[in-house]
Amino acid sequence: MVNRVNTHFLPQWLEPRNLAGSTVVVIDILRASTTIISALAAGARTVHPCREVAEAVHIAAQLEPAVVLGGERDGLRIEGFQLGNSPTEYTTEVVGGKSIVFTTTNGTLAMESCREADRILIGAFANQSVVVEALATQPQVDLVCAGTNGEVTREDVLFAGSVVARLSRSRIVMNDASRLAWDAWCHLESASPEVLTKTLQDSQGGRNLVKIGHGVDIAHAAQMDTTNLLPELDVRNWQIHRGRGVADGES
Ligand code: MLT
Repeated sequence: MVNRVNTHFLPQWLEPRNLAGSTVVVIDILRASTTIISALAAGARTVHPCREVAEAVHIAAQLEPAVVLGGERDGLRIEGFQLGNSPTEYTTEVVGGKSIVFTTTNGTLAMESCREADRILIGAFANQSVVVEALATQPQVDLVCAGTNGEVTREDVLFAGSVVARLSRSRIVMNDASRLAWDAWCHLESASPEVLTKTLQDSQGGRNLVKIGHGVDIAHAAQMDTTNLLPELDVRNWQIHRGRGVADGES
């Protein structure tokens, strides 16, 4: 039974040692967590999150040939990488059976700040229900929003709020950031995918994506419960696996 839910609007604002014993959800709706979930749902074997481009290139070289380099800087595909950070690029044809070595500006950084957690899950609207289901049995939950370059992002806070809203159907203790996230989400609780898409478009991250020609990724990120995968970052080998919650022949 979940007792305590802490939301962190930015990884820079959390105290890593307070995550000991906790189940953490890393949230980067636009787009790292959405893309990781898409890649694994498309049949990728694992995702190796890296902070630096050079580190990603080094790891990929060791995993040749069943490897794909993916990620972004300034939202755009990195020179020499096969894929950028658009969830739709990660199709079964391209990533099926492969390991993805992945680096993004904020998402992979947020994961680093959670190293002391007991478990690290990757959450997005695409797997919201399975995330909530997994958290419901955990005593401590920390929802870590990636933000953008040290700034709080609306889309990450809204997703955190959507999780808090569902967990709060049972008795829970929450920090004020969880309450704020929940308040923000309240207006969207029964919103259509179109309204959620419009809301995400009207965020700094959404506007940035439109500006660089990746606006289509916003509607993708707003799709709710498209998979029951629960990607989990293994803190020992620093690889994201498809995780539990696999059903309906997705494994
Ligand atoms: C990040 O990790 O900074 C984001 O996912 C950026 C992006 O939208 O590509």
